[in-house]
Amino acid sequence: MLNHKDHFHGSDLEEIESVYHIKKEDITSFSANINPLGISGKLRASLAAHLDAITSYPDRNYKKLRECIGAYCGINTDSVIVGNGSTELISLTISVISPKRALILGPTYSEYEREVSLQGGQTRYYPLREEQKFRMDVNDFCSHLTDDLDLVVLCNPNNPTSSAITNSEMRKILDAALQHGIFILVDETYVEFANDVSSITSVPLTRYYTNLLVLRGTSKFFAAPGLRLGYSITGNRDLARQIGIRQNPWTITSLADIAGQLMFQDTEYIKKTRSLISGERNRIYHLLQSWPSVQPYEPSANFMLVKILKEDVDADQLFDHCIRKGLMIRNCSTFPFLSNRYFRFCFMKPEQNDQLLAAIRELL
Ligand SMILES: Cc1ncc(COP(=O)(O)O)c(C=O)c1O
Repeated sequence: MLNHKDHFHGSDLEEIESVYHIKKEDITSFSANINPLGISGKLRASLAAHLDAITSYPDRNYKKLRECIGAYCGINTDSVIVGNGSTELISLTISVISPKRALILGPTYSEYEREVSLQGGQTRYYPLREEQKFRMDVNDFCSHLTDDLDLVVLCNPNNPTSSAITNSEMRKILDAALQHGIFILVDETYVEFANDVSSITSVPLTRYYTNLLVLRGTSKFFAAPGLRLGYSITGNRDLARQIGIRQNPWTITSLADIAGQLMFQDTEYIKKTRSLISGERNRIYHLLQSWPSVQPYEPSANFMLVKILKEDVDADQLFDHCIRKGLMIRNCSTFPFLSNRYFRFCFMKPEQNDQLLAAIRELL
C-alpha cells in the first residue's frame, strides 16, 4: 500500500494518475457522483451546431436560460439566478449574507465552511449522528437555532451521508429560523436523483419564505461539471439584487447558456437517468444490507455512505485495493465526524457497479 497522507477528491484523476501510475482514462470514478449516462443526447446532437454563439456576448440577463430553468423547476423566472457552477453561487450568496456565525449540517461538503471563513465568519457544525443512521432529528436541530446565528447551510440530500430532509421538516426549520432572523441556504445539487423529488425539494417553499435560497447545478445530474452552469432559486428579491450587483457580467459562457436550454428540456434523458439510479440504488442498498462486514446507510441521492464493520480493514486499504483495479471510491476519513472506517461510492452503470461490488467483496 502506498504511504501517502493525501485523500483524493472525485475530480483528482490527474493526481491519481501520477501517484498510482494508472491512466485517468482507465479509471472509473465512483467518487465524483456524476451521472454515468454522460451528457444528454439532445445536447450532444445539437450543441456543436451552435458553436458560432461564442462570437457574441451572451444575454447579460440570461432570460431564455432562466425561463427554461423556471419551467424545469416549476417556478417563476424572476426567482431564478444563474451562475458559473453552483460554486460561484455558494460564494456570492455567502458573501452577500456575510455571516458572523453559521451553522452547517455535518459531515458535509467543505465549500460552505471555506466561504464563511473567507468572509471572516465562524462556523459551527450540527453533527448528524451515526446512532440515528445519519438522519436528522428535526426538533433537536431546531433547538440549536439561536439568535447569534445568521446563516444555516443544509445540503439536501446531504453529501456524503445521502440522507434527506423532507419539505415538511424543512418548513419547521424555516419557521424556527425566521424567529431567530436566520437565513437558510439549501444545496440541492443531488435532489434530482431522489425517488420522490417533490417531497424533498424546497423550491416551492421559496414562494413563502424570504429567508431561503435553494442552490442547484448541472455538474452531477446532467454530467456536465466542465460546463460550469449552476442556478439558485429564491423569493428574496433584495438578496437576488445584491447577488446581481456582485456577480461579474457574463460568468456563464454563450455555450453554457445554450447547453442549459437544451439539457433541461431533454425529458427522455432525465427519465432514463432517474430510472437507472433508482434501480441501482435499490438493488445495491439491499445487497449490502445482507453483508455482515458493512453497514450501509439508506441513500436518497446517487451515492451511498458505508461503514466498514470488519475490524482488520479500513477505508485506506479499501481505496488502495479498488484503485489498483481502476475503481475509485471516496475514502471519507477527511470529512468532519467520519473516520477511516467510512467510504462513499456513487451508482454507475449496472456492470460497473458489479465490478466494484466484487472488488469490495474481496476485502470485506
Ligand atoms: C454538495 C455539492 N455542492 C456543490 C458542488 C459543486 O458543484 P458545481 O460543479 O455546480 O460548482 C459539489 C461538488 O462536488 C457538491 O458535492
